[in-house]
Amino acid sequence: MLGAAVEIRSAAYCYRVLVGSGLIKQLGKCVRKVLRGKRCAVVTDNIISPLFANRVQRSLTSAGFRPTLITIPAGEKSKTLKKAGAICEQMIAARLDRQSFVVGLGGGVIGDISGFVAAIYHRGIPHVQIPTTLLAMVDSSIGGKTGVNTADGKNLIGAVHQPSLVIDDLDVLKTLPRREFNQGFAEIIKHAIIADAKMFKQLQSWEASDALALQRLIKRNIKIKAAVVARDERDRTGERAILNFGHTVGHAIERAGNYRKFLHGEALSLGIVAACAVSSKKAGLPRRQHEAVIDLLQRFELPTCLPKNFPRNKIVSALKFDKKFEGGKIRFVVTPKIGRARVANDVTLDDIREAVDAL
Ligand SMILES: NC(=O)c1ccc[n+]([C@@H]2O[C@H](COP(=O)([O-])OP(=O)(O)OC[C@H]3O[C@@H](n4cnc5c(N)ncnc54)[C@H](O)[C@@H]3O)[C@@H](O)[C@H]2O)c1
Ligand SMILES: [Zn+2]
Repeated sequence: MLGAAVEIRSAAYCYRVLVGSGLIKQLGKCVRKVLRGKRCAVVTDNIISPLFANRVQRSLTSAGFRPTLITIPAGEKSKTLKKAGAICEQMIAARLDRQSFVVGLGGGVIGDISGFVAAIYHRGIPHVQIPTTLLAMVDSSIGGKTGVNTADGKNLIGAVHQPSLVIDDLDVLKTLPRREFNQGFAEIIKHAIIADAKMFKQLQSWEASDALALQRLIKRNIKIKAAVVARDERDRTGERAILNFGHTVGHAIERAGNYRKFLHGEALSLGIVAACAVSSKKAGLPRRQHEAVIDLLQRFELPTCLPKNFPRNKIVSALKFDKKFEGGKIRFVVTPKIGRARVANDVTLDDIREAVDAL
């Protein structure tokens, strides 16, 4: 069964996101419609490779492509410049050229590193994304941000490189561990808070078993993110910054937990709670709405308070590594009411500390 397509368009780029089940089988045909080259690299990780790489390669081969499979170890620790270089070397060895393209088959880690490789190989070749996590479908595969981490911080090196095609095959989510699935809802709830009060309501009575509803939900989230990105692709005007709602504290929590204690979406969930506390104080977010956000996060088994022994002081010191601290000032995203968000410039480090202490 084929699903629905979302067309993502701005003055600078245009690509389609296909959302549905059974799409990997159609992959080769779909790619053929947008790309001409013959050789391609399928970049994936060692957990996803045995699950889906054969199907992906078969579909590409039957449409006349010549895929080379490149597998890296799963996890954030693979998102490095060194690994990106090693992938490029393998692509050179497989004689990929300027007409070739990169297929990223995996979660956000694979999406980010494969997109970065596509952005730099021969100064940029096309990127096809096959996100395999809910988080990657609703967030990281859209918007063109690609990159790798350094010892000093996440995503400090990267490029904006929009994909040529994104394929969200809902069948791949069946093997995704529950905790990984749930963390995708942190980004979805974030989108609801910043842009869609109606979606927030729908999530409050969400039925996990409804496949069509999931397809619609993913499409809606793609549209929300794409609309924000289209207004500010390179994160220059401040509009794209609203997508960072919950992330200032969320990233600091990830860092304070050495990227082991919480998944990104879980740290974001805590960051959203903190951002709502700051919003209550500084932007007039009604108390009832703050509580509704906490209830909704809990509905998706996401954390809303920190474990007692978690090093809170580490969170505050980690805040200083945030790219949003420009010239000592904090660009903190607040929500005055569910469905709206704006960047505030009057939020102090003390306000944030207070919100973190309350977690
Ligand atoms: N570029 C962006 O705009 C953007 C936005 C948000 C997040 N990100 C990045 O995304 C990354 C997080 O992405 P993620 O949460 O998808 O993590 P991930 O890519 O590490 O995937 C999570 C885990 O699930 C496994 N997995 C993936 N799909 C599976 C499937 N279908 N079945 C079974 N196992 C599967 C992976 O092997 C991995 O172990 C971070 O590096 C973050 O910086 C980027
Ligand atoms: Zn995020």
